[in-house]
Amino acid sequence: MKTNSFEFVYDIYDSIEELEKEDAALLEVARAVTEQAYAPYSRFFVGATVKLDNGKMLSGTNQENASFPAGICAERTVLAAVSSVYPGAVIHAMAISFSSAGAASNHPISPCGICRQSLIEQEKRQQAPMRIILGGQVGPVFVIHSASHLLPFSFTGEELNKD
Ligand code: THU
Repeated sequence: MKTNSFEFVYDIYDSIEELEKEDAALLEVARAVTEQAYAPYSRFFVGATVKLDNGKMLSGTNQENASFPAGICAERTVLAAVSSVYPGAVIHAMAISFSSAGAASNHPISPCGICRQSLIEQEKRQQAPMRIILGGQVGPVFVIHSASHLLPFSFTGEELNKD
């Protein structure tokens, strides 16, 4: 028997003021765009904003549905938008923020499992890491250097091409 371990390194900033200018700008937009979320059921409003290799920024928000499983998270909304509007673009970074009717937005949230799987698909497709910047409306900010760090043992398309 052998034992293996998995660990990853990420950065913790005390606040947005400590971030590099570009990352701070991205998080500012992700914070603001939470207002455009359609989340009448959970009242949990999420914004995800990306910076692309063509210099553009694009945002997505969560879009809920009375049939709850039909809803989609902010992260997958913006991934689908990028792939539709700028197919083939490389996403350098994604900032994710939230606001909530019922909870203080003073800490980072991290993407759900399905979104992690989708983020990894994008990383595989673009063959470059995507930085993930996580922060509430105020408070500490986490910077993760690759989406792959968030989902060890992820399922990838490589499995589908094996003989
Ligand atoms: N949600 C996101 O949009 N992204 C996340 O990272 C976590 C959860 C949404 C889904 C749902 O509309 C609401 O937040 C509550 O789960």
